[in-house]
Amino acid sequence: MADQRVSVHGMWSSRAVFIMAAVGSAVGLGNIWKFPYITGEYGGGAFVVVYLLCIALIGIPVMMAEILLGRRGRSSPIGTMQRLAREENASNAWVLLGYGGVVAGFLILSFYSVIAGWALAYVFQAASGGLNGISAEGAEGLFGGLVGSPGQLLLWHSLFMLMTVAVVARGVRHGLERAITILMPALFVMLVIMVGYAYVEGDFARGAAFLFNTDFAKVFQLCTGPAEALDCSFSGEPLLVAMGHAFFTLSLGMGAIMAYGAYVPERASITGATITIAAADTLVALLAGLAIFPIVFASGLEPSSGPGLIFQSLAIAFGGMPGGQWFGTIFFVLLVFAAWSSSISLVEPAVAWLVDTRGWRRGSAALLIGLTAWTLGIGSALSFNLWSGPEYQLFGKTLFDLKDFLASNIMLPLGGLFISLFVAYSAGRHMALDELSIQRQHLFNLWWFVIRYIAPLGIVVVFLNSIGVF
Ligand code: PFF
Repeated sequence: MADQRVSVHGMWSSRAVFIMAAVGSAVGLGNIWKFPYITGEYGGGAFVVVYLLCIALIGIPVMMAEILLGRRGRSSPIGTMQRLAREENASNAWVLLGYGGVVAGFLILSFYSVIAGWALAYVFQAASGGLNGISAEGAEGLFGGLVGSPGQLLLWHSLFMLMTVAVVARGVRHGLERAITILMPALFVMLVIMVGYAYVEGDFARGAAFLFNTDFAKVFQLCTGPAEALDCSFSGEPLLVAMGHAFFTLSLGMGAIMAYGAYVPERASITGATITIAAADTLVALLAGLAIFPIVFASGLEPSSGPGLIFQSLAIAFGGMPGGQWFGTIFFVLLVFAAWSSSISLVEPAVAWLVDTRGWRRGSAALLIGLTAWTLGIGSALSFNLWSGPEYQLFGKTLFDLKDFLASNIMLPLGGLFISLFVAYSAGRHMALDELSIQRQHLFNLWWFVIRYIAPLGIVVVFLNSIGVF
């Protein structure tokens, strides 16, 4: 029955286009902005190892499950869960998975758009020569000036949200296919150039050592208090953040990949596509790390300096590089595109739902969702200036940090947990066998074992560990 289903939003013209679109969703600010800054905050190599393990043991198997659900249901994530729960005689409560994803999408978009706005602002800085010859202090000052200004942040945030709504309104396929096939490879080439520059001009040995030397004690101890009286204790937080980031960077657990899966042609191999997407995503993150940390160390920045890390270090790199005005402009334009193709996928599940089940027009749906996320985003923008003080914080986190923490580290892994439980226990082996059509039985058995036991248990263990159960 699933064979005859077609999505009302049209289909990707080929498996390669689906891979490109999924890579477009996965590769974004998560890889280039967030991965380096959280790796810096959590001390480097050991954090990277845990993150890579999470990608391999949880991310890849869950992505296969999420795509196969999407293709089977051929609807919005909410519609898909409704349909599949009915077909598999499972509880209708599974539809909550779809609604949870829509909420997570709003939360993420409401801070994602603000950070993408920073990238937009840096396009203009770079193009106008504002980064030329900039010193470390100058780069800090420039970044501080941007995030300290509510007006500027709101302006760029609004512009980016408009760009997102404009593409989603036209339909993901029309808006995305052509742009992505050119811009993603271009971003990759730019990153390789940046790594080359970091190799020649930065402290490459120290940067690479920071990224790849694994000192587990350093990462899993959380130290607080002044330097002379540091209070260190074992903490599960880095583990939770590494797992959350594996979900965030692969766009998993909230229905984005499920929505894209709904447009995948029937005969395309899900396994091969998943591995390609995860490999490309991981490669981009590691390249970004290799481009950034050598510059961070060479110019005396702090790896743990937070969300501004790449904006400060890259400004210094472009400022000192011959032709840096051009390279910088091109780089930030590509970063904006990478963020754009990700934010589009954040909106798609909710838009597809309004269109599929409520009969809305794509344009109106995109507008409503963009407007809601934009409003929520005001709080994220103000977190860096007017609302940065302790009186506006909850659990020591600003609104921006709180939304990121809740969505990335709690909601996405929870979504992933329920996806694996539905596929492995509620729907059962026949559906997975049918959709994955893996030729080699032992490969299917391996995935089946991981999705039944390893992935769900892994997620639960990390959750329990983070609240101190063990
Ligand atoms: N994967 C994107 C990134 O790394 O920037 C962010 C993202 C997009 C997360 C879509 C979740 C999502 F559904």
